[in-house]
Amino acid sequence: MNLASLQAAENKLLLNTYERSPYLFVSGKGVYLRDENGIHFLDLLSGIGVCALGYGHPAIEQAIAHQSARLLHTSNLFFHEGTANLALRLTEMSGLDRVFFCNSGTEAWEAALKLARANATKAREEGKKIGTKFLALEHSFHGRTMGSVATTHKEKYRLPFAPVMPDVEFVRFNDVSDMRAKFSDDVCGICIEPVQGEGGIHPVSQEFFTAARELCDSTGALLLADEIQSGFGRTGKWFAYQHYGILPDVTTLAKPIAGGIPMGAMLCTEKASAAFTPGLHGTTFGGGPLACAVAIAVIDTMQRENMLAHIEEVGNFFRSELESLKQRYDCITEVRGLGLMLGVELNSADLAKQIAAQMMERRIIINRTSETVLRFLPPYILEREHVEITIAALDELLKANAEYAGAAPDGEKVHG
Ligand SMILES: Cc1ncc(COP(=O)(O)O)c(C=O)c1O
Repeated sequence: MNLASLQAAENKLLLNTYERSPYLFVSGKGVYLRDENGIHFLDLLSGIGVCALGYGHPAIEQAIAHQSARLLHTSNLFFHEGTANLALRLTEMSGLDRVFFCNSGTEAWEAALKLARANATKAREEGKKIGTKFLALEHSFHGRTMGSVATTHKEKYRLPFAPVMPDVEFVRFNDVSDMRAKFSDDVCGICIEPVQGEGGIHPVSQEFFTAARELCDSTGALLLADEIQSGFGRTGKWFAYQHYGILPDVTTLAKPIAGGIPMGAMLCTEKASAAFTPGLHGTTFGGGPLACAVAIAVIDTMQRENMLAHIEEVGNFFRSELESLKQRYDCITEVRGLGLMLGVELNSADLAKQIAAQMMERRIIINRTSETVLRFLPPYILEREHVEITIAALDELLKANAEYAGAAPDGEKVHG
């Protein structure tokens, strides 16, 4: 089937949940995807932060081949070799004590929410005063299932499904006094993405994160850090909260853990873990042999190749190149992010849409989030040469757009 016949078939057969761009990819190698016509695209989105080792990585291919020949699934009623091995690696990386495995980001976040509620129920049974309310942040995104979507700020995602999970209040982003005003012993958990992803690449402030930790400590509420987009090396540390020197009670991972095989994980402290007892939570596929084997191969590769340092180095270079574009183009209002999780805020949603589309026409995949933000979530194996290609293309497009808007001549600051 070619692109046109696939489009026609999908229009008829699939639920209308995605506006796909008209490209049909058939294979990939390294940081490049190849379409049906053999054209290569430089991919700075990595399947929305999933394909951390890029495409066709031999370590992933070998892990899949090896594990699929041995054992794909047994269920969580029995043991297999992968779960404890992977849990050991994740607990060492995170500073947390225990892991629950699942299959996606939203499922990991649901587990975190349920753990916070179960923890509060247990505390009440022990005579403590703690309620059922969650504080979540404005512009947050935690997923699409009923609990996750209830803690997701955008009304467009939430309201059509009302009533979603009750007892969620939104706090203004990085506004410590708003959080303090809304916090009480009614709260069972504070929900934070250390770097908001879908909300437009906004790192939480040190002051805000520290205050959230202190508030939770004062009552026994849990601090929940959603690292589904920012975690697993993306920001140059295994977890973005490690940039802040703060340990949450609970964190969630998904996207890149198993290099493209679906997997999610909820990690927590020993103390919080006591709220879950057998039967209270579960999932058929979670922590299956294939996903575990691939995740271990991804971690081994990242450690062997010292990839956190590489992410930091290439990320800093990328960021400084974006900053120098900002010096030259008025239409760039801010450059934000950590490591290889970067965002460029433009002063117009239309311009951001146009630039993302024009980059695609130039065979460079980026994405627009939160209307005005160009988002970069490239594979961790990105090199400086790929950054240079990207910056040159952005430079030309911003210049062309600025000139179209009737702006300054070459060499001067361009008012786009
Ligand atoms: C921070 C965050 N949490 C949760 C999710 C939901 O993950 P999934 O789409 O795997 O359910 C996402 C997805 O983009 C995310 O960025």
